[in-house]
Amino acid sequence: MNYWPSEERKMNDYQLSPGRKLKTSDSGLKYNNRKEDMNGQEEGVEFLPTMNAKKVEKRGPKRWVVVTAVLIVFLLVSLLVGLLVWHFKYRRAPVQKVYNGHLVILNLNFIDAYENSSTTEFALLSKKVKQTIKEMYKNNQDIGPYHKETVITAFSEGSVIAYYWSEFIVPAYRAKALDKAMADEQSLIQTVKYKSRNPVLQVNSIVAFPADPSIIQSSRGNSCSFALHAEEGEITSFTTPGFPNSPYPNNAHCTWVLRADVDSIISLTFKTFDVELCSEGSDIIRVYNSLSPVEPHELVNLCGSYPPSYNLTFLSSQNVMLVTLITNAEGRNPGFKAEFFQLPKPKTCSKTLKGESGTFTTPFYPAHYPPDMDCVWNIEVPSTKNVKVHFNVFYILEPGIPVSSCTKDYVEISNTKYCGERSQFVVASNTSKITVRFHSDQSHTDTGFLAKFLSYDSSDPCPGKFTCNTGRCIDKVMRCDGWVDCTDASDERSCNCTKEQFRCNNGWCKPRFWLCDGVNDCGDNSDELQCKCPDKHFKCSNGKCIPETQKCDSKDDCGDGSDEGTCSKVVKSVSCKDYTYKCHNSLCLSKTNPECDGTKDCDDNSDEESCDCGIRSYSKQTRIVGGQDSEEGEWPWQVSLHVKSQGHVCGASLISNKWLVSAAHCFQEESQIRYSDPTLWTAFLGLHDQSDRTNKMVQERSIKRIITNPQFNDFTYDYDIAVLELQSPVKFTATVRPICLPDATHDFPAGKEIWVTGWGATSEGGIGATILQKAAIRVINQTMCNTLLTDQITSRMICVGILTGGIDACQGDSGGPLVSVESNNRLFLAGVVSWGDGCARRNKPGVYTRVSKLRDWIKQHTSL
Ligand code: ARG
Repeated sequence: MNYWPSEERKMNDYQLSPGRKLKTSDSGLKYNNRKEDMNGQEEGVEFLPTMNAKKVEKRGPKRWVVVTAVLIVFLLVSLLVGLLVWHFKYRRAPVQKVYNGHLVILNLNFIDAYENSSTTEFALLSKKVKQTIKEMYKNNQDIGPYHKETVITAFSEGSVIAYYWSEFIVPAYRAKALDKAMADEQSLIQTVKYKSRNPVLQVNSIVAFPADPSIIQSSRGNSCSFALHAEEGEITSFTTPGFPNSPYPNNAHCTWVLRADVDSIISLTFKTFDVELCSEGSDIIRVYNSLSPVEPHELVNLCGSYPPSYNLTFLSSQNVMLVTLITNAEGRNPGFKAEFFQLPKPKTCSKTLKGESGTFTTPFYPAHYPPDMDCVWNIEVPSTKNVKVHFNVFYILEPGIPVSSCTKDYVEISNTKYCGERSQFVVASNTSKITVRFHSDQSHTDTGFLAKFLSYDSSDPCPGKFTCNTGRCIDKVMRCDGWVDCTDASDERSCNCTKEQFRCNNGWCKPRFWLCDGVNDCGDNSDELQCKCPDKHFKCSNGKCIPETQKCDSKDDCGDGSDEGTCSKVVKSVSCKDYTYKCHNSLCLSKTNPECDGTKDCDDNSDEESCDCGIRSYSKQTRIVGGQDSEEGEWPWQVSLHVKSQGHVCGASLISNKWLVSAAHCFQEESQIRYSDPTLWTAFLGLHDQSDRTNKMVQERSIKRIITNPQFNDFTYDYDIAVLELQSPVKFTATVRPICLPDATHDFPAGKEIWVTGWGATSEGGIGATILQKAAIRVINQTMCNTLLTDQITSRMICVGILTGGIDACQGDSGGPLVSVESNNRLFLAGVVSWGDGCARRNKPGVYTRVSKLRDWIKQHTSL
C-alpha cells in the first residue's frame, strides 16, 4: 500500500457547496370567512311578537329561562367533577423521583474502613450523613414532605465525600418545584448551616442530579456490585460476570467501584470489549469520574464491539472511578475484560517548549485525556524565526457540542478555540512565540491531539514550496493544477488556466480531460453541461452520455435516473439481460445489486441465500489518522500468501472455508521458480502483523490446488484471476471470515469509495509493510481510465484510485482484495489487485481484476 507523506497528499474530495436557497411557499394561513347561518333557531326558544310586551312581563319566569338555568347548573357541576378528577387523578398523582448526588464533609478525615460498606465505621457515618441530609430536606418545604428514603452508597477521600441517592414520592404538580429545590445547592447548605444549632457534620458542598429510578432496585441487594482498590505497582483486572465462558446476564445492573490511594489517579483500559450492538435502549457500559453515576461526571458510554487494538484507555482526575453495566431483556454478548492501575496525580501538564522544533500532546495521549484539566504550552523558537504548530491528530469531540462553539473541551490559540474531530491543520504565528492552551471539562473525554511545533522563516515560510493561506506548505506543482490541495482551496485561486485546462463558470481551472466525464468537477456542473453525445448515445439530464441501448434497461446508468424516466415501468420478472439479476427460478429483477441486501427480491429468496459473508466481527473501528494501519479483524477475508524462503509474496481473499481468490499473475513461472506449484505456497489467515505469524488468531494452511484463468494474458494482464483450494478448511473466527462475491450483474459505479488492503510496498520501489495496511480509493470512470492508461483497459478490469496520486496499492498487494461496503454494511469483493503504472502516481489509477465479470468462472471451479 502506498501513501505519500500527508503534507503532500492531495485532498480531492473538496466540493464546492453552492449556496442553497430555501424555497418558501406563499400560501399562508387562510381563514374561513363563511358567515354563520343566521336563520338557525335554537330548539325550544320562542320568539314573541313585540306587540305582546306587556304579556311577557306578567307571566313570571319563562320556560326558556328555566331551561337555560338548568343547563348552566349542569355544566358547572360537570366542570367541578372534572376538576376534582384532574386534581386527584393527575395533578396529585404520586410520581417517584430519584436523585443521585454527593456531598463533602469538612470536619472528618477519611479512614480505610469507609471504603467497605460492611464495616461498623461505614454504618455509623452513614447514619450521621443520613440524619444531616434528612434535616436538610426537612427544612425545605419543596423537599421535606416528599422525602421517602436516602441511601449512602460510598465514601471517598477529600476530606470525606459521601455518595448517596434519595428517593421521593411527590404529587405530579409539585415535581418541578422539587427538581428546582434539589438543584439549588446554596439553599440546601444554608439549611444545615443555620437551622441546626450544633451540626455534627460540617457539610460544605452538596450536589444532586435527577437519576433513573432503576438504580434503586440495583443498589438494593445487588449481587452484581464490586469494589476494587488498586494495589501499589500492580494491575488489577475485572470482567463482566461469566466472562469469557458465558455471556453477561440479561436485565442486569452491575457496578464496579474503582479506587486508588489518595493523590493518585486511575488508568482504566478495556482489553476486550464485546457488548450488544448500539441502539436505543441497548446494553450499555458507562464510566464515571466519580462514585455516583451522574451524567455530568460521565467519561464515556460504550456499546457494540471493539477490535483489540482500539484504544480504550480512560483516566480519572481523582482517586475514584465507577463503571456500570446496564443490560436489557434480550441480546447477550461476551462482555468485557478490563484492567486498571493507579498512578501519581500529575502536578501539572503545562510546559515551556524551546528550540527549532518539537512535539507535544494532550496528557496520556493516545489514551483518553483526563477530565478537568488545563494545560498551557508556552512555545518559543529562536527569536529570528517565526513559529507554527502542526496538529497531526486532533480528536476533541464532545457528543452534542457544535464545533462552532467549543463550550466544553477545547484547544485555544490566540483567542481562537478549536474542538471536534479535525484533519491535519496548521496554526502559524508571525512572531517567535505561541501559546497553546488545552481545557477539558468534567465529562466526556477523547483521545486528544498530537502536535509538532516548527520554526520558519517569515520571509519564506515554505522554502521551495507554496504556502496555503492556512499556513500549510504544499508542492509548487500543486498550485493551479485543478486539484484542491490547501483545505481552504487557496492553491486554486487567482489562477490563469493553462492550455491543458478549461475554466469553469465559477472560475476554477480544471484539467481538460475532466470535461464531459460524467463527474461534476467544477462544483457548478459547468464541466458537464455543453457535452455533445457521440452517435447512438443518449444524453442524460446531468450531461452524461450513455449508449442508447442502456436507456430503459431498468438500471440507472445516468446516475440521475433520467435514462429510466420515460419508460413503461418494469419492476420484477423483467426480460433477462446481461445486467439484470437472475433468480434461481430464472426470473430476472430490475433492481441493482439485490444480493444479500436484506430484502427478499426473488420469489424463491435466492438473492438472500448464502449470505454468510462480508461481515466484520467488530462493530467499531478506529478513526483513521495519518497512518493507515488496519485494526485486527477489520479485514477478516485478507490472506497473506507466502512462498518458501521468500516470505509474503501476494495477497488473496477468503470466499468460503476452503477457497481463496487471488491474481493469476502471482502464479506465473518467473526466474525459474515454478510459482504455479501449490506446494511452494502457504496461506496465512487471520494475520495482522507479518512478524507475528505464530499468534493464536492466525490459521496457517497449505495449498492443495491453484487454478489460474486459462485466458490470463501475461502481457496485457487481462483475466488476471486465480482460485486456490486450501489443503484443509479454516474455522471462521473473529479474524477469519469470508467476503461476499458480487453477482455478474453487480454494479460498482464510478466515484464509489472502495477499500484496498495489503502488506505491499509502502512506496514505489519500497519495502512491504509489517502491519496490514488499508486505503480508501474511488472507482474511476472506465472510459476516462482507458484514456489515462493509454488503451490498456479491458472489460475485465476496473480502475480504482485517487487521481491526484498519493494513495494506491503497490508491489506485494497483488492478488489481494478490493472491497466495497454495500447495503446493510455488507462487504463485497469488487476486485483483485492486478497492476498499475508505478504506484500512487498522479493520473495513474491502480488497475484491478473486475470480479463480477469473472463470477461465472469462479463458480465453475469452486461451485460457490
Ligand atoms: N503487480 C503488483 C504485485 O504483484 C501489484 C501492483 C498494483 N499496482 C498499483 N499501482 N495498483 O503486487
